[in-house]
Amino acid sequence: MLTTNEIRQKYLAFFAKHGHAVIPSSSLLPENDPTTLFTGSGMQPMIAYLLGEKHAAGTRLADSQKCFRSGDIEEVGDNRHTTFFEMLGNWSLGDYFKQEQIPWMYEFLIDVIKIDPEKLYVTCFIGDAEYGLPKDVEAAKLWKEQFARAGIDAVEAEIGSEAAGYERGVKPGERIFYYEGKKNWWNRGKTGPTTTPIGDPCGPDSEMFYDFGTPHDKKWGEHCHPNCDCGRFMEIGNNVFMTYKKEAEGVFTPLPFPNIDHGSGLERIAAAANKQPDVFRLDIFSSAISAIEHSTNKTYGSNEEDTYAFRVILDHIRAATFLIGDGVLPGNKDQGYFVRRLLRRAVRFARKLGVANAIVRSVSEAYIEMYKVAYPNLDEKREAILGAIEMEETKFAKTIEQGLRELKKIVDRGNGVTGTDAFNLYQSFGFPLELTTEELQRSHNLKVDADQFALDFKKHQDLSRAGSEQKFAGGLADHSVETTKLHTATHLLHQALRTVLGDHVAQKGSNITAERLRFDFSHNEKMTPEQVAEVERIVNEQIEKDLPVQFEMLTVDEAKARGAIGLFGDKYATIGDKIKVYSIGDFSKEICGGPHVEHTGELGGITIAKEEAVSAGVRRIKAILGKKA
Ligand code: ALA
Repeated sequence: MLTTNEIRQKYLAFFAKHGHAVIPSSSLLPENDPTTLFTGSGMQPMIAYLLGEKHAAGTRLADSQKCFRSGDIEEVGDNRHTTFFEMLGNWSLGDYFKQEQIPWMYEFLIDVIKIDPEKLYVTCFIGDAEYGLPKDVEAAKLWKEQFARAGIDAVEAEIGSEAAGYERGVKPGERIFYYEGKKNWWNRGKTGPTTTPIGDPCGPDSEMFYDFGTPHDKKWGEHCHPNCDCGRFMEIGNNVFMTYKKEAEGVFTPLPFPNIDHGSGLERIAAAANKQPDVFRLDIFSSAISAIEHSTNKTYGSNEEDTYAFRVILDHIRAATFLIGDGVLPGNKDQGYFVRRLLRRAVRFARKLGVANAIVRSVSEAYIEMYKVAYPNLDEKREAILGAIEMEETKFAKTIEQGLRELKKIVDRGNGVTGTDAFNLYQSFGFPLELTTEELQRSHNLKVDADQFALDFKKHQDLSRAGSEQKFAGGLADHSVETTKLHTATHLLHQALRTVLGDHVAQKGSNITAERLRFDFSHNEKMTPEQVAEVERIVNEQIEKDLPVQFEMLTVDEAKARGAIGLFGDKYATIGDKIKVYSIGDFSKEICGGPHVEHTGELGGITIAKEEAVSAGVRRIKAILGKKA
């Protein structure tokens, strides 16, 4: 068996041999990206470089990036979905392109890790007539040449949509499949030319699939095809040909130099290399499985329901271990909320396996041991991680006890338990619906109205969403008066930087607390002391003028026409079709969710405390309220 560690090493060594600098994984918490809570792909920390900024390590990079996809929490339970994974990535920053990438990928998969070429299938972009985006015949041709090396005549097939795939299936000899943009186009966020955020790099991609040859499950659709979810074909990687920057709706301008962005899930490659369709049977999970088996006296794989529970525990505790290792503690908001949710779900599924407590520590420890060579920070933070995990387990145990007591009171009233009762238990005590349902069934033979629960839950979510969206728009720690003042100061600073340094200055990140603002922006060199002083002077001048701060709701086109700056791709500032645009007198106009002060005079004045580098091409300013004496 090829171990996961061996595959990671072989991949990095292979690309190092081809001139790539091997760089460390970035944190799971994005440093300079206010649009998202977690790093969910290898390319996310690379956006600035894919758009043309210089990377200090050169134009050929490779890494194994830690990723977390919170949207996949509910997907976990089958043989391949995990919320945390490592993505093996290589990048060409305006260096090589398809002609190199496709033969290299083939060589890595077939010659280095010895995947059977008969089991390899690929997809390419079919083109988009409406946007004038061509069909990627070049990628298909390159793949065809590679397959020919193994004596395989790879026949091409036009599929189009996923639905068309289910209708048509795969004909004998077919190996290269063309799909539409929803499948074979990459950008950050929901993929496809229409959903690419404006300002982002994007392009057609070519995915690789491994055929496990398992029988097709018709619950997904009539026929199987590479993008079918039945488990026969597993996607093992994606080669993105970053060709464009989306300038506006329907407008794709070529990047000065096209880039390569390749990402492969490490476990999926390992699954293919070991002909093992269940990623949880790979070496990295084995000691964690033993820990669960030991605590539960159950065996992984013995029946479907238990296997599902094992997988949830295995995935969630691993993700929580890595997230805490990167500095997120379980909590009620933002990233911390997800760590809490992961751990509590893990405990709930452990209860299903018959253990009430004390399972998380041993599983987390198994992972720390397994990963400590590749990720030494886990070992360094061992006690902090295990402590946080155990504390959360204890808290949740209390929640469960309290919830059960309250539930008993409701049952004792004798009128049954409504969906609203269940929601109130969840809302007031954090007692999950699943536990209410299980407990009622087990001890009282009662049912709860899950639909009513869902209605109440949605109402609550809709109410709280508006608030949190506004918050993320500015990366604010809270909505206190001081934070709000510093938020308005950030807009003044952004515009003053553009006035002094030029229009290439764009926001790369913003983080504001009641003590200070922190603003990251694109600029290639260190600012001179004179430039810093001039920026500070301009901001203070606008504050002295006591300019009014107002907002309007505009469409994206209107906002652009009026010269508004800001993160156009930022979904958090959007309400309906309109976005909120704040103006400060005639000095600044910026897309933003707020909140802001009413007049700049309220700020009193600011001082720039620091100007420093964040990464190649990105500078950071920290500033505080109050003028220098
Ligand atoms: N960025 C590409 C992906 O995540 C490689 O699929």
